[in-house]
Amino acid sequence: MAKTNGGASGSRWRMDQLWRDLAEQGEALASTRIDALFDADPNRFEHFHAAHDDMLLDFSKEKIDAAALETLLKLPEAAEMGKWRRAMFNGEIVNGTERRAARHNLLRTMQPPLAGVADMREQFLDFAQMVRTGARLGSTGKQFTDVVNIGIGGSYLGPRLAVEALKPFADGPRIHFVSNVDPWNFHNVVDELDPARTLFLCASKSFGTQETVLNLRAAISWTTARLGPEAIGKHFCAITARPDAARGYGIEPENIFQIWDWAGGRFSIWSAMGLCVAIRVGRDVFSEFLSGGANMDRHFESAPPRRNLPLLLALIGVWRRNVQNYPSYVLAPYEERLASFPEYVQQLEMESNGKSVQRDGRPVGRATAPTVIGGAGTNAQHSFFQKLHQGPDASPVDFLVGVETTTQTAHQQRVLLAHCLAQSQALMRGLSAADARETLAQNAGAGEAAAERAERLAPHVACPGDRPSTTLMYRKLDPRTLGRLVALYEHKIFAQAVIWNIECFDQWGVELGKRFANKLLPKLDDERSWKHEDGSTRGLLSWRRGLKDGG
Ligand code: F6P
Repeated sequence: MAKTNGGASGSRWRMDQLWRDLAEQGEALASTRIDALFDADPNRFEHFHAAHDDMLLDFSKEKIDAAALETLLKLPEAAEMGKWRRAMFNGEIVNGTERRAARHNLLRTMQPPLAGVADMREQFLDFAQMVRTGARLGSTGKQFTDVVNIGIGGSYLGPRLAVEALKPFADGPRIHFVSNVDPWNFHNVVDELDPARTLFLCASKSFGTQETVLNLRAAISWTTARLGPEAIGKHFCAITARPDAARGYGIEPENIFQIWDWAGGRFSIWSAMGLCVAIRVGRDVFSEFLSGGANMDRHFESAPPRRNLPLLLALIGVWRRNVQNYPSYVLAPYEERLASFPEYVQQLEMESNGKSVQRDGRPVGRATAPTVIGGAGTNAQHSFFQKLHQGPDASPVDFLVGVETTTQTAHQQRVLLAHCLAQSQALMRGLSAADARETLAQNAGAGEAAAERAERLAPHVACPGDRPSTTLMYRKLDPRTLGRLVALYEHKIFAQAVIWNIECFDQWGVELGKRFANKLLPKLDDERSWKHEDGSTRGLLSWRRGLKDGG
């Protein structure tokens, strides 16, 4: 296990002092508007942005000044970021509760130093090419036109994100996703598919997740009922760290693709977990995606803190969360192909850092993961942005936006970009009641009624402004940029976990609900057993029974 240096108490003292300094600096800034910070420093953008190649991180619209940034930049060293980062990249145990390494970066390294990783990459990429070219056929000799990825959590969100984001580069079979135990999900997907041309990928690191196992069984029944029992050998693959469990379902060894315990599910898109992506876009595009992630790894490892995008994004998040006390933030990609990126980051951030105890089990004593809300722009402007502009409590926003589009419609790309920049402007500047009144009066007709209407509506039209945001701008969403974006947020979350001194690679909290569900399931129709349940559960079960009995 990675060890903090002998000066652990010294490090803790240093951190406590920095938290106190940050609190004071946050207090000092509280009454200063963000736009006033620009008035005070016309070169503010120059002092509050960083770039890595074409990727620009503009955090000048955050409520932060030079002193606060200087203090924030001391946190990584005081938290021994270098030691933990080296430990992670060197394969030391950085997942303390499960005693595991976290080596997802190896999965995107061109020459991974770990036996088997490169071979497995070649194996699943070769398999993908065989499916794409028809060298691999179904049990009736037909080429696959549709692939169904059965998986949930990190065995779903990453593959779905990449399939959607890389659509312009896709020329392989159509990819579908079955994740939810809700039977509608499975039936809605397979109802339109030809079993002779459908390949199922059962994606499950544990091969024990209830939803995935039930959906796998449904898929096996659906397939064998139409093609016979021997069809499993041709129509089913597994992506798992438990090959034996997969073989127990009749899945052939050559169709089982290994992933490893040292890559957490939400960090596994780079592995054979990305098989459906590789089938959809092919080896070269998938390799470009990997190279983007590797590029961000090198940047995270080598860039000095002031120029380090993952570290800066982490520190901005700490400032928002622990100094400004925002409980949430909005992730708004102004890129339709990243519409599911917020949901991906929800798991990455909230399953990694939604923790309340430190590595040694003592309470953290401060806020950790924020609640991540998200939606693609410009759609989000027409759903929840109203609250961001006029609600009494704001949520800071991470805007993501590309400069170029992969389509020919350059004008609409300009409109999209204008909206993205305008939203961060409007959140910062707002609209005073006086300006609202003037705007209303200018846009209204003549006469007393117009002035009265302007007076009446002004408070409803005014926007407080002074709401922070950060904008990440890049040239265009190509495979490499997708890889950089995903790795950027992975490392941001790791860096925050180091600063909060929490475990980010385990997820014990998800087990409790599963245990309760396993206890409740056999009781649903057994009223005698309800007496041990709480009143709400008894009431709900009773109501369900009434509805089922035609009540
Ligand atoms: O939500 C808990 C979790 O273990 C996630 O961390 C994981 O991505 C998901 O369930 C699916 O797990 P598996 O890939 O083992 O089926």
